[in-house]
Amino acid sequence: MKRFDTKLISLKPVARDYFELTFVWQADAGIPAPGTFLTVRTGGEYDPILRRPFAFSSFDKEARSAAFIFQNRGRGTSYLAQLSPGSSLDVLAPLGKGFVLPQGEARPILVGGGIGLGPMVYLADAIRTHAKAGHCEAAITVLGFRSADFIPSMPLPEGTVLCTDDGSLGFKGTAAAYLAALNDPLPPLYFACGPTAMMAAVEKIAALRNAPYQAATEQWMACGVGACMGCALRMKDGSYQRACADGPVFDGMLVDWETL
Ligand code: FES
Repeated sequence: MKRFDTKLISLKPVARDYFELTFVWQADAGIPAPGTFLTVRTGGEYDPILRRPFAFSSFDKEARSAAFIFQNRGRGTSYLAQLSPGSSLDVLAPLGKGFVLPQGEARPILVGGGIGLGPMVYLADAIRTHAKAGHCEAAITVLGFRSADFIPSMPLPEGTVLCTDDGSLGFKGTAAAYLAALNDPLPPLYFACGPTAMMAAVEKIAALRNAPYQAATEQWMACGVGACMGCALRMKDGSYQRACADGPVFDGMLVDWETL
């Protein structure tokens, strides 16, 4: 983890109220794993006091750049949405524990919805490279949206299955409904990030198929570094884990989705 001052490279609208922000990465901050996140200051030194957390949506070591997708829906994100190339950014990254890349003869199935799109796009990219090197099978990516208006205008992983609740594009229904009907000869390995209802539905499908499930949680955060318990989430055994420091990626079979 490193805090650094950097510059915004680009800010692109990718869907209604959604933006992708790309910034200069500082080489000695290491390489952020898919599923890990950063926090960024969104305004002056003391106001707003809390940094905002965002999952990485891409990373390019050669270009020394990293990106995240955010939804403009509050004071902090409105601040980000009015920045321009060259604007200064105060970044703390990488934070948290990310996804463990798949191995062997099993089918990685990536499921994303809402702002969970970003980490799944980054994970799909990492798995594509991993599969090319012969370490795992090619992934299937399934993304769910309310309607076609919310589908981002950005490069998506090759062969992505698009699902819309209203059927305005792609499969009519939720990403989980598509998954429930999906038949693949290889045993599945599930990876997901998105709304709680979707995460809980993926857990049920994984349980039915006795398959592993890595879930990137989206919790409200305060400190972002494990010090305040503001991001605690309940596990099925009654214990609490900190999304920022113990996650945000957890064994999805252990999370008590009913309490989120
Ligand atoms: Fe403070 Fe996670 S946000 S412990």
